Amino acid sequence: MRAYNFCAGPAALPTAVLEKAQAELLDWHGKGLSIMEMSHRSKDYVAVAEKAEADLRKLMNIPENYKVLFLQGGASLQFSAIPLNLLGKNSKADYIHTGIWSEKATQEAQRYGDIHIVEAGTTIEGKLAISEQSTWDLSDDAAYVHYADNETIGGIQFANIPETNKPLVSDLSSSILSAPLDVSKFGLIYAGAQKNIGPAGLTLVIVRDDLLDQAKPEIPSLLKYGAQAKNDSMVNTPATYAWYLSGLVFEWLLEQGGVDAMHKTNLEKSKLLYGYIDSSDFYNNPIAVQNRSIMNVPFTLADAALDKLFLKEAEENHLLNLAGHRSVGGMRASIYNAVPLEGVQALVNFMDDFAQRNG
Ligand SMILES: Cc1ncc(COP(=O)(O)O)c(C=O)c1O
Repeated sequence: MRAYNFCAGPAALPTAVLEKAQAELLDWHGKGLSIMEMSHRSKDYVAVAEKAEADLRKLMNIPENYKVLFLQGGASLQFSAIPLNLLGKNSKADYIHTGIWSEKATQEAQRYGDIHIVEAGTTIEGKLAISEQSTWDLSDDAAYVHYADNETIGGIQFANIPETNKPLVSDLSSSILSAPLDVSKFGLIYAGAQKNIGPAGLTLVIVRDDLLDQAKPEIPSLLKYGAQAKNDSMVNTPATYAWYLSGLVFEWLLEQGGVDAMHKTNLEKSKLLYGYIDSSDFYNNPIAVQNRSIMNVPFTLADAALDKLFLKEAEENHLLNLAGHRSVGGMRASIYNAVPLEGVQALVNFMDDFAQRNG
C-alpha cells in the first residue's frame, strides 16, 4: 500500500506517474532498453526532453522570449549561478528576506557582490507575516531583486508578486506549478525539481532572453545561462532520468486540467488543514492568514513532549514525514500537487483523534 507522504522534498510523486515509469522501465517504447541507458543526444531522448519542455511551456504559459533550462546542482547552485550571471558591473543586488531559504540565497550571493538585504518579515497580531512592499527599503541601482516566493521551512508565502522595474528573480522551489503565475513579470525563475516537478537531481531555470549573456567570463561554462541555452541544457550530460520523469509529471498535470485545476485542489487542501488547526486549541500555526503557504503547513502541538508519539502514531496510520525541519522542530505537512485531498483529510482525521486522546 502507498502511504500519504508529506515530505518537504524529495516529495510525493503521483502514483500514476510512477506506474508509467515502472511499466516502461526495462523496455522504453519497444526500443529494448531503459531510457536511463540511452544517449542524451539520441533522437529518441531529445524528443522526450523537448516534449517535457513543450508541456511545461503549456502548463506555465511561458512566453517565447524565455528559455527553459534543465540543469543540475539543485536550487542551491542557483544561489551562486544567479549573481555570477546577473550582477553585472556595479555588482549590486537586492535580496528580500523572509526566512531561511532567502537567507541562504543571500549568503551565497554575498560572496560575489554588494548585496542589500531588504527585510520583509514582520508580525501581525502575534503572527509572522510579510510586510507591505511600501515599507521595503529597495535600492535604485540593484542589478536585480531576489525573493523566495514560498519559504518551505517557515511555511510563509508572498500574497503578491513584488513590483519592481528591475529584473525580478524568484526561488519557486516549493511553489512552482501550485498556482497560476504570470511568468512575464520575472527576469528569472528557478526551482529544485524534488517538490512539485519530479525527482531530485534536476533544477529548472526559466530565464528571459535579455539576461542570458551577462555572465562573468571566468565562471564555469556549466553555470552560464547563455551557454546552457545555446546547447539546449546539454553542455554536458544532463540528469536524463529526472528530466524524463519530470516530463511524465507535466503530462499528468495536463491530464488533471493543468495548473488552474491544481490550484483549486491546493486551495481546498490548505483550507481544510488550516481550518482544522484554527478550530483546535491543541494545534497552532504561526503564520498570518494572508501569508500562509498553500504548500507547506508547519504546526506545533500544545505540548512538544507529545511530538515523538504524534510522529510514531502518524506513521502507523500511513501518514509519513510530518516532522518539521530540523532547524525549527514541530511538525510540517507538505501538501504538494501529488498529495491528494483524501491524504489531507486522512491527516486531519488523525490529528483530531490524536488531540482528543492527548489534549
Ligand atoms: C525554497 C527553497 N529553496 C532552495 C532549496 C534548496 O534546494 P536544493 O536542495 O535543490 O539545493 C530548497 C530545498 O528545500 C527550498 O525549499
